[in-house]
Amino acid sequence: MQLLQRLRRNRLSPSIRSMIAETVLPRASIVVPIFIVEGSNQRIPIQSLPGVDRMSIDVAIEAISKFQDTGLRSACLFPVIEPTLRSLTASEAWNPHGLMATALRQIKQALPDMIIMADVALDPYTSHGHDGLADANGTILNDETVACLVKMALTQADSGVDFIAPSDMMDGRVIALRQALDENGFHHVGIVAYSAKYASALYGPFRDALDVRLGFGDKRSYQMNPANVREALLEAKLDEQEGADILLVKPALPYLDVIARLRAQTLKPIAAYHVSGEYAMVMAAHANGWLDAREVFAEMLLSIRRAGADLIFSYTPYAMYTARD
Ligand code: PBG
Repeated sequence: MQLLQRLRRNRLSPSIRSMIAETVLPRASIVVPIFIVEGSNQRIPIQSLPGVDRMSIDVAIEAISKFQDTGLRSACLFPVIEPTLRSLTASEAWNPHGLMATALRQIKQALPDMIIMADVALDPYTSHGHDGLADANGTILNDETVACLVKMALTQADSGVDFIAPSDMMDGRVIALRQALDENGFHHVGIVAYSAKYASALYGPFRDALDVRLGFGDKRSYQMNPANVREALLEAKLDEQEGADILLVKPALPYLDVIARLRAQTLKPIAAYHVSGEYAMVMAAHANGWLDAREVFAEMLLSIRRAGADLIFSYTPYAMYTARD
């Protein structure tokens, strides 16, 4: 055939393919979630999240250090709170001697070059498992919750956190957090705002990990309706105006259109959270021999980058890179 265009020429060898690759997946772009439990020498598997363990602080330091050796640069901490410490006021969330504050101090001291982020939301701390305070009718209270988040974030900042990551979806929390951080001398602490967090069915294994069951209702009065994308862009615009440093979309793969549209709207870095259910589905198929998890994850994470995300919160390092011996 006489063809002027033979696109396969550019696919001929691995070297050519990598030379013209439009998208890359640097390990430094992955943020690895870490579940922290009380005690020492604890490594407790999570049945619905194969390969991921809840770890006591000492074990987590070892694990994060190994992740660092493989090229990862950041971790986000989620505490597993003892049921006896959960309450209607969620006051354990700003305990300066609590699990999160202690973990932040010890991990930053041991691994000062790792970027340590901390989730800001009340769900591990409330007796009903919602991300906010509730009134007697089960309505999640916005402004009262924001006041709690501010106390929580200041405790985290005081413990050495690099970025706080509010995942609660209350209105106005980014500006409240930014102002409180600045007023208290924490100008250097950044905010990764979960701008577009959808009310998704893909968070199940995460709730298993934290041992959180919703006491009533669902999260649809604060997390977003999966039907909406303009609303996501508006949430992100407001978070940006309120001082967010990084804008996050969650979950990732079912919302690549949201990431791509947000990419066109903002000059800020975009994060995507490849959530627990997205990870668990692949691991379940892998366990059945139906696909190769490493290859699938590499393709999925690349597609999240291609859509426009700069960083990706993901459990895949547990399966893709050696975190264990
Ligand atoms: C709660 C929170 C959730 C996740 C991160 N922060 C669960 C929820 O909103 O119910 C989910 C993460 C995942 O599924 O991996 N603030």
